[in-house]
Amino acid sequence: MVNYIDAVAAPQKNTGQIKLHGPEGFAGMHKAGQLTAQCLDQLVDVVKPGVTTEAIDRFVFEFGLDNNAVAATLNYRGYTKSCCTSINHVVCHGIPNEKPLREGDIVNIDVTYVLDGWHGDSSRMYPVGEIKRAAQRLMEVTHESLMHGIAAVKPGARTGAIGEAIQRFAESQRCSVVRDFCGHGLGQIFHDVPNILHYGRAHEGVELREGMIFTIEPMINLGKPHVKVLSDGWTAVTRDRSLTAQYEHSVGVTADGCEIFTLSPGGLFAPGLSVAEG
Ligand code: MF3
Ligand code: CO
Ligand code: CO
Repeated sequence: MVNYIDAVAAPQKNTGQIKLHGPEGFAGMHKAGQLTAQCLDQLVDVVKPGVTTEAIDRFVFEFGLDNNAVAATLNYRGYTKSCCTSINHVVCHGIPNEKPLREGDIVNIDVTYVLDGWHGDSSRMYPVGEIKRAAQRLMEVTHESLMHGIAAVKPGARTGAIGEAIQRFAESQRCSVVRDFCGHGLGQIFHDVPNILHYGRAHEGVELREGMIFTIEPMINLGKPHVKVLSDGWTAVTRDRSLTAQYEHSVGVTADGCEIFTLSPGGLFAPGLSVAEG
């Protein structure tokens, strides 16, 4: 039995009950989401050949300091960085390090700031210099998959409608959907119920109600959907080493659809064209 609870009355932990937030929650999420989106906008000018993912992590750490926010990933379950940086065949949870980015790489940067107790969780893809046509196409398919998922969000629909919309579009483009990671409820806690699967059927999952807040964050592969986690305990890669991409927004269910908290102030969320000519 699923049950829903007024977020104001709920304990600040994952009790298995789905929290329904009011205007204060939406305002807090809007602020946190916008801070995360601002940071991701600024990273457009940081990401280039030769820059290390450690330098990107330092930027995310300091941007938080300057804005009274801390990255939720810092010291989260033993993770020690302020963001995840997932390059090429890394599906998610890549750990920033001293290796420089190379021309032609595509990298996902995933940031979650906690601002006044609210979590803004978002990620996007960044091309490093000029990239191959296939990489450009994968980023476009993945972004569009996310936006199809978001379009399915409204009260009365089930979480399965989100998954179905994402899977239908991604597979129509001959790409595959990663099954091992999902979106999640969030708000004053980072990872809460419900799970938001990026595949499935519209009649599956729990009913969406006004006031629910969660992420949608599909990981889409050019090859097979299977992944494995490396011995560092975090880095997830495609088993066939095929290219993979991810986009993530934090959203809240409204009376007639949803509010996207992590929209880019600069209109820089969607992949821009960065294909090498010839
Ligand atoms: N931001 C990721 C998400 O979208 C979670 C990263 S947890 C970490 O849910 F520990 F790997 F950073
Ligand atoms: Co997330
Ligand atoms: Co994230």
